[in-house]
Amino acid sequence: MSPKISRCLFPAAGLGTRFLPVTKEIAKEMLPLVNRPIISYGVEEAVNSGCNDIVIITGRTKRSIEDYFDRSFELENLLKSKGSIKLYEIIHAIASMANFMYVRQPEPLGLGHAVLCGEPICRDSYFGVILPDDVIKAESPALSQLIRVHEKLGGSVIALEEVPRSEVSRYGIVDADVFDETEGIYKIRDMVEKPSVHESPSRLAIIGRYILSPKIFKILSDTEAGIGGELQLTDALRRLLQEEPVWGVIYKGERFDCGTQDGWFAANVKLAMETPELRRIVIEAVKNFF
Ligand code: G1P
Repeated sequence: MSPKISRCLFPAAGLGTRFLPVTKEIAKEMLPLVNRPIISYGVEEAVNSGCNDIVIITGRTKRSIEDYFDRSFELENLLKSKGSIKLYEIIHAIASMANFMYVRQPEPLGLGHAVLCGEPICRDSYFGVILPDDVIKAESPALSQLIRVHEKLGGSVIALEEVPRSEVSRYGIVDADVFDETEGIYKIRDMVEKPSVHESPSRLAIIGRYILSPKIFKILSDTEAGIGGELQLTDALRRLLQEEPVWGVIYKGERFDCGTQDGWFAANVKLAMETPELRRIVIEAVKNFF
């Protein structure tokens, strides 16, 4: 049996230009999704999938991520002394849920480069990758669904979702054969990053969850910059396919795309509507507009 997946890498060094001006000095990953930073949803998903080492790739303006996942003794002591025990427990639990490690990506050279920055920590075994923009609500954590496929079939695994044809150019798209229809597992034949509608091999898009072979590092280190002048993870995965199997799995869950202002705003409203104490407030705030 393959060793347990215990590490999960979070690329979080992007400049967040789609959210300017708010992201001029604030990390996009720290924007709130209801009452918690976007990245905390992904970190909890990784922990609930069995990962206890969380590796975050950061850059300038990202220090608040490190502070968020660190202990805050002053705050904890204050809450305890005031008898706010419930809040104290919530705050205390944030830093104790995993081991947090950080690597700086000096320049935003693309997702592939961000993953490559994690090599010193992740080079010994298969590891998870979560793109924090893709928040996934699921009964069984999305990453754990990929881990199950890896444990059963070996090799690397990527999360897939069928998207409308008009949206294919926003994603990595795969060319794949059905392997297990009931489980939604595909054997990947090829993939292409952000194809045009005409070039797209299918409507099966890569979503921000991966189980990667450590072989990816060697490949990334000699892959040329691809579309957008960035080092693309999809281009390296395409080469990995020639060395070992790469599986795709249609994850079961609901995705909230927090990578754009529209998506993030809609995610806040939808999640608030699903939170009993907030649902009434949202309805009250908008009812006079209809
Ligand atoms: C990245 C990947 C792409 C994938 C997408 C999922 O693109 O490069 O293959 O489909 O995440 O969210 P980005 O959204 O960073 O441009």
